[in-house]
Amino acid sequence: MIIAMAADHGGFELKNNVKEYLGTLKDKDGKGYKIVDLGTNAPESVDYPIYGKACAQAVADGKAQLGLVFCGSGIGISIAANRIKGVRCALVNSVELAKLAKKHNNANMLAMGGRFTSPDLAREMVDAWLNEEYEGGRHDRRVALLDE
Ligand code: RB5
Repeated sequence: MIIAMAADHGGFELKNNVKEYLGTLKDKDGKGYKIVDLGTNAPESVDYPIYGKACAQAVADGKAQLGLVFCGSGIGISIAANRIKGVRCALVNSVELAKLAKKHNNANMLAMGGRFTSPDLAREMVDAWLNEEYEGGRHDRRVALLDE
């Protein structure tokens, strides 16, 4: 499975921490995750819409199955990602929300705030999201409506 990742200067350290963690995991088929890192990788100020869009576009185009984005709060980059049709990006700050993002919304991207999220929590949320199953059923119609 391919996971695209992107961040601005407020999120790149958390992105890199989660990226390192993903490198140690196996997907449901027992294979390692392939990471596409779309930057940024330096503390110089950059504009989160550019990075959110790049990651979301990779997911929408099928170049990656899932995406993870990070900015200072997680807010701006999640808004940017959700402008791309087909993307369902959930800004999460708890393991329960990360699970719900998959179970109810079939979120294909998560966003996190690098200035508000510990690396341990970020890793736990990614784990929860990757391992949870989308429930389908009553959620199918609502998820479909998002793209109409
Ligand atoms: C950058 O300072 C900050 O505004 C950005 O990382 C993010 O928090 C925006 O939503």
